[in-house]
Amino acid sequence: MTLGAANSDQDYDRTAAVKQFDDSKIGVKGLVDSGAATIPPFFIHPPETLPNSTPSTAPPASDLIPVVDLSGLDSNHRSRIVKQIRDASREFGFFQVINHGIPSGVINHTIDAIKAFNEQPTEVKSQYYTRDLLRGVSFATNFDLFQSKAASWRDTIHVNFSPMPPEIDHIPEIFRREVLEWDQHTRRLGEVLMEILSEGLGVKQERLKELSCLEGRVMAAHYYPYCPQPDLTLGVTSHTDPGVLTVLLQNHIRGLQVKHEDEWLDVKPVPDALIINIGDILQMLSNNEYKSVEHRVLAHPRREPRISIAVFLNPGKTENLYGPMPELTSPEKSALYRQFTLVEYMERFMIKELDGKSMINFFRL
Ligand code: OGA
Ligand code: NI
Repeated sequence: MTLGAANSDQDYDRTAAVKQFDDSKIGVKGLVDSGAATIPPFFIHPPETLPNSTPSTAPPASDLIPVVDLSGLDSNHRSRIVKQIRDASREFGFFQVINHGIPSGVINHTIDAIKAFNEQPTEVKSQYYTRDLLRGVSFATNFDLFQSKAASWRDTIHVNFSPMPPEIDHIPEIFRREVLEWDQHTRRLGEVLMEILSEGLGVKQERLKELSCLEGRVMAAHYYPYCPQPDLTLGVTSHTDPGVLTVLLQNHIRGLQVKHEDEWLDVKPVPDALIINIGDILQMLSNNEYKSVEHRVLAHPRREPRISIAVFLNPGKTENLYGPMPELTSPEKSALYRQFTLVEYMERFMIKELDGKSMINFFRL
């Protein structure tokens, strides 16, 4: 794969440039702070994967991705909510929820804490810069920096919450209380959503919980700073999420797009809403009833950062076998995927770059 302008320059040693950047531990924000007026060539994506307009010039965000009001879930609105979420999960693989019970103050404090970490002096942040995910807490630019063909314009903090949480004092104090609280809130919301999604499949309410789908929880908090050349790179390349369900919080800066019928739809920032999307494992567990859909984030030229906090809900039992639920298969509708263990699944995810629908295709029968 060639890299736009970079390929014509025979002298450009991409591998060395990537390594030098990673060794510097300054992150993308550090490049911006140092006054970079252009992006390093290894961030340039092939033109066919780039949008032809940046958020500042794009048409207004579309309203197609459903926004589901969860109020009245435990009373007379339940069947309406189950249907809205089921339909959205089949058609878009994405929806937003409002009146989900997580207080606005908690949302704001969580975003502020992630912002505060990233806006510390580079010397402070770089102490946490590592690719060692076994530590349970890490800060780095692109977990797939050394696997991908082109780097993306964002820095990310990962925290493993469950089943193997980090030592408490390994979590930077600047966001410790906030992210631990966020885990509790998103776990609770995740449980409610999994009950609804199970109902929508016509299986018993506790089905996804019993498959341990609330027990593997990882946070990826992204910081997308100002980009001097936003039309040459991306914030996140097009991908699907590997897990069961993702609960995503975004601040007011646009950039997230979802593929629908070969078009990219903007996921409009709605105050206090959370974005929910179906991951590859849930598409496979549901035997294709629910769809794991490709999405990406555009780089942006705004001075304010875009911040988003994803919590990935995954199965927590590494030794179990996962595959289409037997209740959803029949002689007329056979299983579309083979079974796998989580160990096998995660190994495969970690050796590849973040791209398209390659996990789903790998396990397809
Ligand atoms: C992700 C992701 C979107 C965003 O972390 O998998 O798609 O808005 N994030 O940051
Ligand atoms: Ni994603």
